[in-house]
Amino acid sequence: MYPSKNAEQDQTKIIFQSDSKDQREMLLDCGYSEKAVQYYLEQPYMGSLSDADQESEMLGSCGDTMKIFLKIDHHQITDIRYQVLGCPGAISAAMAAVDLTKGKSLEEARNLNDGDVFNQLVDIPAKKHHCIQLAVKTLHKAIDEYNNGYSDLKTVGCESACAAPESCCKSDISK
Ligand code: FES
Repeated sequence: MYPSKNAEQDQTKIIFQSDSKDQREMLLDCGYSEKAVQYYLEQPYMGSLSDADQESEMLGSCGDTMKIFLKIDHHQITDIRYQVLGCPGAISAAMAAVDLTKGKSLEEARNLNDGDVFNQLVDIPAKKHHCIQLAVKTLHKAIDEYNNGYSDLKTVGCESACAAPESCCKSDISK
């Protein structure tokens, strides 16, 4: 006899819940605080913004990568998302960085430092402190690039490949 669809769904739910519970306990045992674990499991700001005003990417020395999307209105950050290819420390740090900078001015967000994010996380293992640096550096890079008029969104990839006038490199090649 085959299990009913509802039974299958229930099983999936149980497996998912048990996975989250295992991960939670494992991370707590490793030295992550409840708050940091919550950021990692819930990932409230993970993803992209289709109408972002700034998109920047950074590769960490460990090989992990972060991409950040900023929505900016009158020099104020109205929305942020991170895409993280990385460890729980990187994910929780990125999510904490958003809570500290969303709604802030670009200048205030540029002043965010590693200690602020660490305090927001309450605690993460010492060997994971560089993950906080990656989240903060990615944010700083995005703000600097926005202020300098550079964005992955505006770059069409021809800048280094041809000697066309600058206006060409700023245009949309799909037109
Ligand atoms: Fe690379 Fe955490 S190990 S960011």
